[in-house]
Amino acid sequence: MRLLLWVALPYAAIAILIVGTVWRWRYDQFGWTTRSSELYESRLLRVGSPLFHFGLAFVILGHVMGLLIPENWTEAVGVSEGAYHAVSLWGGAAAGLAALAGMAILIYRRRATGPVFSATTRNDKLMYVLLGGSLLLGCAVTIIENGVRGGYDYRQTVAPWFRGIFLLRPDPDLMNGIPWLYGFHAVFGFLLVALFPFTRLVHAFSAPWRYAFRPYIVYRSRDGRGPATRDPARGWQPITRR
Ligand code: HEM
Repeated sequence: MRLLLWVALPYAAIAILIVGTVWRWRYDQFGWTTRSSELYESRLLRVGSPLFHFGLAFVILGHVMGLLIPENWTEAVGVSEGAYHAVSLWGGAAAGLAALAGMAILIYRRRATGPVFSATTRNDKLMYVLLGGSLLLGCAVTIIENGVRGGYDYRQTVAPWFRGIFLLRPDPDLMNGIPWLYGFHAVFGFLLVALFPFTRLVHAFSAPWRYAFRPYIVYRSRDGRGPATRDPARGWQPITRR
């Protein structure tokens, strides 16, 4: 069972993520979309979506810090376990709860807005269960194990196990005796990783990252005074006020 959960599951999930993403890109590029429902309802979306996405961005940052950076590195630069713990507890709880609240608003919107509910597939529902489950368990782990119960140093167990997977030195023994909430959370996380390429979540891989670097859209007048009457110069043109 230990081998199944802490070695086979992570590798299977990562393999499905890679192969599934390539398959989806090759066979379903037109379906590579969030299937936006903004046209049907935008009031709740304007609140829920940024809350969920910004919360999740900080949750991901927290996972990079907590799982990928070894404890002795942060100690070497003078960050004690106590200080790390406080940031991970308060910062993690705030980010996790923001993402969870955003998701609750989005799910409520989906249920309450007729056309949005009609456009919700079974695939979406399964994805919501795994995404919501991961978020809920993550918040429970942080708040209960790290907060109420007074601090469990997952950077001695869960984090080195997680790194071992990517270093091709998986060590399931590190997960012996961890609080069960951590175990459930990691299992839900990897199930979500496996489902990822087959859901709307693929839009995360093609978020408009290049938007921030694109040239400005330049509007030109048609009254004969603007640059539109000149031969268009090649390349970018300076934007001047007219
Ligand atoms: C893939 C394997 C994953 C592992 C090994 C993992 C591990 C962890 C750990 C160790 C914590 C810190 C708990 C604490 O502070 O004591 C945590 C927190 C959390 N996780 Fe994960 N996680 C995984 C995937 C996910 C996924 C896929 C999601 C959701 C999309 C998620 C959402 C959260 C949330 C919301 C928290 C609480 C806030 C925070 O500390 O960032 N996790 N996770």
